[in-house]
Parts: sequence; C-alpha cells; structure tokens
Amino acid sequence: MPDRANQLISEILRRVHEVIVEHDVTYEEYQAAKQWFIEVGEAGEWPLFADVYIEHVVEEQAFGNREGSQGTILGPFHLPDAPVLDAPFELPHRPDEPGDRTHVSGRVTGADGNPLADANLDIWQADAEGRYAGFMPGPPDGNLRGQVRTDADGRYEYITMIPGPYTIPLDGPTGKLTAAAGWSPWRPAHIHLIVSAEGYEPLVTQLFIDSSDYLDSDVASAVKPELIVHPQPRSDGEFEFSYDFALAPARTHAVA
Ligand code: BEZ
Ligand code: FE
Repeated sequence: MPDRANQLISEILRRVHEVIVEHDVTYEEYQAAKQWFIEVGEAGEWPLFADVYIEHVVEEQAFGNREGSQGTILGPFHLPDAPVLDAPFELPHRPDEPGDRTHVSGRVTGADGNPLADANLDIWQADAEGRYAGFMPGPPDGNLRGQVRTDADGRYEYITMIPGPYTIPLDGPTGKLTAAAGWSPWRPAHIHLIVSAEGYEPLVTQLFIDSSDYLDSDVASAVKPELIVHPQPRSDGEFEFSYDFALAPARTHAVA
C-alpha cells in the first residue's frame, strides 16, 4: 500500500508541477488557488466538487467494461434508509407536488437474462424544480425518495414525478470555479437508482429524461446514451416509460 500511495501521490504532484511550469502560474494565482481550497473545505463542498468533476472517470474506469446495464455516478445526494414502499409503489411527495406524474416499470435480471425476484431499487431524485429533499430548500425530508422490490418475475413498477434539471450550487466555491472557467453549471433531469440483488454487483445508475435540456452539457459528465429514457403521454394525462436493468454477478474475492 505505501508503494501505491507513493506512486499515485508522486504522479499527481508531478502533473501539478508540470502545469505550473507549462502555464507559468504566478504567485497571485497560487495564492488564489490556496484560498479556493480553504473555501471548498469551509463550505463542506469537497464531496460536491469530487462528484461533479472526478467521479465520472472513476466510475468508467471501475465499471465501464462490466457485464449488464450501464451505471453512472452516485453523486452526493443519496441518503440511506429511504422507506420500502408497498403497492401501489408511489414515491412519497407533497399533496400538491408540481410536475408531470409518470409510471415507471421494467424488469431486473442477471446479465444472462434470468429474472431476479426481490431485487431492491433504491430511488432518489430532484423535484420538478430541480430540488433534492434534505439538501435544498423547498421539498420536505424524504420527498421523492423510496425503495421498491421486484416481484417473483423480476418486475418492478412505481409512480413518481418527472424531475427537472438543476444547477450545482452557484454561490459556493465549486459554482465559482465553474463560472470562472466559463462552463455550464447544469445537470440534465435524471432519476437516481441503486439496483441490488443477492449474489450480484449493485448497479449505481441514473435515468435521464429525453426531453431535458443539458443532456449534451452535463456539468458532471455522467450522461450515457443507454441511460436516456423516453416518457410517453397516456390517455389520462400522465406519462409512462419502462427500463430493464441487468446486473453483473458478484465478483468473487480471493481469500488471503
Ligand atoms: C447528482 O446527480 O445528484 C449530482 C452528481 C454530481 C454532483 C452533484 C450532483
Ligand atoms: Fe442528481
């Protein structure tokens, strides 16, 4: 392990030193960067910064070649222990929840296609105005967060609201860095899921709404074409779409 730490830390510092030399970084810029590091810590934004600008490469490196459905980043807004829902499986929300109601359904299988009974889908999302319960003003605790289990045929269904796109916080150091670089701070509308079943690798993923803006300019670089869903209007004025998840078998770990 010290070898690995030595290798990685040395390489990161070498590349930082190279940038300083290649771009003739000044003392003023160095002091501004130090101040920015301090502000990220003070604002508690290291998880946000890392998940916006770094996690997608770790995810792709770790899971890009895995069997089964595509995953993408977890992000900083997951909360454990969301309620396990009973039929008719509707994510908890306010009586006057804004937005379009949508019915989501599909199957969870192994990568070989065998249906997985009692698989768990842990679901969380922003509301139609792009706000996450527990992290942003507006929605009450637990809004649009819940867990759903598959039936004996691996089928699941739930009802939710189509989420809206959102910006990362604009007034903190991550938002200021994004503005300083001239980049878009927006994430396209998406629903987060962790799909898990005994004996399989958990799948951390997101489903992106096809009609959303910013699919081509996600600040967190987390969109994959396989993860775009197409809600269709129903005769009752609500929407529906389906998505099937295929899980890779759990990796077996060598016993030391
Ligand atoms: C999210 O998907 O919720 C998210 C991901 C990365 C950074 C910020 C938010
Ligand atoms: Fe999100």
